[in-house]
Parts: sequence; C-alpha cells; structure tokens
Amino acid sequence: MIILSPSLLSVDFAHIADGIAELDRAKVPALHLDVMDGAFVPNISFGAPVIKCLRKETNMIFDVHLMIEEPDRYLEDFRKAGADWVTVHAESCKHLHRTVARIHELGMKAGVALNPATPVSVLDYVIDDLDMVLVMSVNPGFGGQSFIPSALRKVAEVRKMADDRGLELDIEVDGGVNLKNVGDVIEAGANVIVAGSAVFGGDAYENSCSFLKVFEKY
Ligand code: DX5
Ligand code: ZN
Repeated sequence: MIILSPSLLSVDFAHIADGIAELDRAKVPALHLDVMDGAFVPNISFGAPVIKCLRKETNMIFDVHLMIEEPDRYLEDFRKAGADWVTVHAESCKHLHRTVARIHELGMKAGVALNPATPVSVLDYVIDDLDMVLVMSVNPGFGGQSFIPSALRKVAEVRKMADDRGLELDIEVDGGVNLKNVGDVIEAGANVIVAGSAVFGGDAYENSCSFLKVFEKY
C-alpha cells in the first residue's frame, strides 16, 4: 500500500489546524513533520512543543523527520509530543545503531534518512533494524525545491538491498515530489510519499485527493 505523508512545512503557519483538517477530510493517513535546527540544515522550523499541540488536532500518523544535530537529546521529547515514526539522518548520528535502538525502546518506528550525496552502503549494517529508509530527493532544509533524478536509482538500490535480505521495509521519498513524477518514484520502489508544496501550494484537499487517486493504480 502506498502512503501519502504531506509535509506541513508548506502550510500557511497562521492556519495550521485548518490545513490539517483538509488532509483529514481527504483521508490522508500520515503527516510529515520537518524539524530543523538551523545547524544540521540552514533553516529553522519547529520542534516538539508545536507537535504536541498538533497532536490534539488529528489521529494521523505523525511522521517526524529530524533534521537536527545529535537527535538523541530530543527523542524522548518527540515521543511525549506524540510522534509515531521518527527518522534521523545517517549524517547527523555518531552512533546510528544506538540511536535506532533508542527510538525503538521508546516505542516508535525508526527510519534513517540519506542526503542526496550519501551512498546506500551506509545502511549495510543497520538496515535489518529499520522500519523505514527515507531517500532525500532534494538537499534538506527547504520546501519547494526541484527533484534530484539520481534519487530514483537510490530508491531502487535500497529496495533491492531490502528484498535481498527478505525485509519488509518502508521506503519514503522526500523532496520535489509532484503529480508528474510520483509514478516514477513509486515504480522505483518507494511506498511512502512526501509532498509539501505539491499539496499545500494550492487546495490541500484537492491535491491530496489527486495523489491518492494516482496511488490507486498501484
Ligand atoms: C526538505 C523537507 C521536505 C520538504 C518537502 O528539507 O524534508 O519534507 O518540506 O517539500 P517539497 O515537497 O515542497 O519539496
Ligand atoms: Zn522531510
């Protein structure tokens, strides 16, 4: 099953709850929450206190993407705030295996994200412990950037690595995904689709329905 996880980064922040209500109306299953610290990425977004407030607004899966240095310091806060899935970057964790174990210990699903220039080989000794791999198809930090085509090859490589080991791994693609390229992304092997500007750049209800309609074909 293909899961849509719209990125809240492109919502009108003066009306976040309205944006979430539109997604709920379209029966979107997950909400992608981009946490940025201004150090790992050149932008600052929001943290656990905001997520905690949003938790009261919806039952959607909270898919939290941590673009922060030393994420271990905050894992418990995100659990308390209501995160269901937590994804950390391979590039920001000194002890990635330990971080993944801690996410599981706290009762959340664990994902590892790879920046566009990071090879799939970094997953070799950790993929068996993961619920999800997030392939970045833009350099993290901002919404509305263009899709980097080499991400498709990377998705296929991760899917092959998972299949070769008999793993039922979720593969998420994040950055520059729109209605035109989402078919290629799914065909490469992804099953969790993030879309920020392609959902909130217009009517979030209509755009979500359009994505969900494409997913029905797979
Ligand atoms: C980028 C974020 C993405 C971003 C996606 O650093 O991780 O989730 O919001 O936005 P679009 O879909 O507009 O590229
Ligand atoms: Zn993201």
